[in-house]
Amino acid sequence: MVQDVSQGAPVQAGVARVFDDAAGYYRELRWDKNRLTQLERWLTQTTIEEELGDQRVGSALELGCGPGTWTGLLADRAEAVLAVDLSEAMLAQAGHAHAGRPNVELRQGDIARFDEAGRRFDRILSVRVLEYVPEWQSVVESLGRRLAPGGRAVIITKTPISIWRGTGRERWFGPRTFARRLTGRTLNADFWQRYIPIRGMVRAFETAGLVDVKVRPVIFGLPIYMRGTKQYPIVPPFAEPPFLAASRGMWRWVSDGSQLRRNAFLWLSESYAVSGRAKG
Ligand SMILES: C[S@@+](CC[C@H](N)C(=O)[O-])C[C@H]1O[C@@H](n2cnc3c(N)ncnc32)[C@H](O)[C@@H]1O
Repeated sequence: MVQDVSQGAPVQAGVARVFDDAAGYYRELRWDKNRLTQLERWLTQTTIEEELGDQRVGSALELGCGPGTWTGLLADRAEAVLAVDLSEAMLAQAGHAHAGRPNVELRQGDIARFDEAGRRFDRILSVRVLEYVPEWQSVVESLGRRLAPGGRAVIITKTPISIWRGTGRERWFGPRTFARRLTGRTLNADFWQRYIPIRGMVRAFETAGLVDVKVRPVIFGLPIYMRGTKQYPIVPPFAEPPFLAASRGMWRWVSDGSQLRRNAFLWLSESYAVSGRAKG
């Protein structure tokens, strides 16, 4: 049963409120708005496609589907998709986006607390969600019992130590912002966000019993633009295309390389993916 987030989970209630408020504009601002966010969407989508593979499977679970940005990728590959999110308003957007897909079931709930009574999935995906979940570790460790034998899981979350750190839309400038950044407090008192160390994430995959655990950069390059969701006006909009093409080419080279090469370039990645496979 999915637990009601309004009972006994104040952190999740605060997170749900923030994403309810953002639901109307999130997808456009984060993924569609301009050529920078579209490149970020392409990097994320290509990573998901490469890690999930294009084999047709029986079932898929999406943890934190938001407005359904990636739910269609799962629905293209799986007979049945269960997509869970805390935010009713995000789920309404996802319902609108996937209205024509009878194989998508949307469910309101907290991914740290819902229990599918032993149901197992061939694919599990979560994109930019676990950084808002205090119990992220137990969610990752649950992958082992939620995946069917041979099933694959892909988790994408923000990179804790990289040159992107602190480059969000609200800047470092001003004494109060600076103090808040240094102390790690968030803008919104009831909003919870923590970046997850890559080693900790890999360890949680291993504790879950997953094998072939791999790490790779997702959103990648230099935070030097002013029109994406990051605001560093070093490269003016008219000069963006060659810089973006270079980021894409470098990302390809790093992603196609050994795990050593991928690890060596994680400092250039705003987000990272960890993938793994259940034995069997
Ligand atoms: C940044 S959005 C990402 C949405 C989507 N995955 C994407 O990449 O476009 C984060 C989503 O995670 C959801 N979320 C955060 N904590 C959650 C939790 N404990 N259980 C379920 N969903 C959660 C939020 O409601 C929000 O829709």
